[in-house]
Amino acid sequence: MHYFKYKNSDLYAEGIPVKKIVKDVGTPLYIYSYKTLMQHFSAFEDAFDGYPNIICFALKANSNIALLTALAKKGCGADVVSGGELYLALKSGMPAGKIVYAGVGKTREEIRYALKSRILMFNIESSDELMAIDETAGEMGVKAPIALRVNPDIKASTHPYISTGLKNHKFGIPIEEAVENYRLASSLLNINVLGIHCHIGSQITKISPFVDALKKVLQLAKKLKSRGIEIKYLDIGGGLGITYDNEVTPYPRELAKGITPLIKEYDFTLILEPGRSIAGNAGILVTRALYLKKTLFKDFVIVDSGMNDLLRPSLYGAYHQILPVKKNARRKLRVDVVGPICESGDFFAKERKMNRPLKGDLLAIMSSGGYGFSMSSNYNGRSRPAEVLVKGSRYFVIRERETYKDLTRRTKIPEFLK
Ligand code: LLP
Repeated sequence: MHYFKYKNSDLYAEGIPVKKIVKDVGTPLYIYSYKTLMQHFSAFEDAFDGYPNIICFALKANSNIALLTALAKKGCGADVVSGGELYLALKSGMPAGKIVYAGVGKTREEIRYALKSRILMFNIESSDELMAIDETAGEMGVKAPIALRVNPDIKASTHPYISTGLKNHKFGIPIEEAVENYRLASSLLNINVLGIHCHIGSQITKISPFVDALKKVLQLAKKLKSRGIEIKYLDIGGGLGITYDNEVTPYPRELAKGITPLIKEYDFTLILEPGRSIAGNAGILVTRALYLKKTLFKDFVIVDSGMNDLLRPSLYGAYHQILPVKKNARRKLRVDVVGPICESGDFFAKERKMNRPLKGDLLAIMSSGGYGFSMSSNYNGRSRPAEVLVKGSRYFVIRERETYKDLTRRTKIPEFLK
């Protein structure tokens, strides 16, 4: 679901023609729809309305401060994985009491920052980390609220790079070793055991892996209870998939239908960490066709955006729909849509059937609101794109395009070279 639709033959972002925004701001350009973002968040709120819950947006999907502020104003919390993300979440007005902090490699400095900020809880990924958090909390004279992230060994049937819930993944504590780790945690003086956390992967298009993981986690919660360890927060992570092509993906209400019956007898507060399902379809990347390159073997459309702006196709072979900003009736061709970067892996689509683009045409790479800008870089000396937020028939630049000058920001030439 999103509000990027054609009116006659022009693609609109809510109430504004995309070409109008591009005329003012240029390309490559990320455009987000406020209404889409808000509706995706409300879909979670509505779905879990009958059960105490906290929705913690996974900042890794998109951490533009304007989008975060929009979510914060609706009462959204945050799932963060670094001190930087914690900073952004707090800065956007997300309450510390709604922030959970995961990640296998938290530094002491980050731990101190999170303790000082009084976040809801750390999602701890190893016993070594548990000891470090206990020690740091001790030094600061506070108690650290924690959950252990357990790895339930459930296959999420998604791309191997974004699947996290199998035993051989670096994430979480194997569920078989969870009880002894909870025992250890509850014996530590500076640790306050509050929850269980579990996240099995991303872009999951069925409900069953969530249900299977939850069943294992509930068995664990029962075992813990019988040993006097009470669980207050049940954090089931993120991972709900979205439609990139023609996948049929479950709505939050279907996720709720699958899991709330299993937990209704418990007094948990449920925590959800959706990222992609809130931001993914709320954004597009608009790029311009620079050249058409026809060889004896292939047709290429060379665009002004590259893998540095949107890495997903290169890194995961991910599919993103590519739509013309102005519809046309030209003959269909099979083309590779590629960027200007010096790597053969720099592509947005391979052998894609589309109406033959002309030089100068604008193309919209759809579903780029999640893991788009947040994974961008300056590779090949490219300035990162601008970002715009559309609300109705108005738009707001929420990140200015970088300039060449930004490429030297914080770098220094040592004296001996001057
Ligand atoms: N919670 C934890 C602990 C996570 O590791 C993740 C994602 C999420 C929540 C949010 O998952 P979501 O609802 O967005 O599926 N760069 C990849 C996705 C990596 C996801 C990593 N963890 C991509 O572009 O597909």
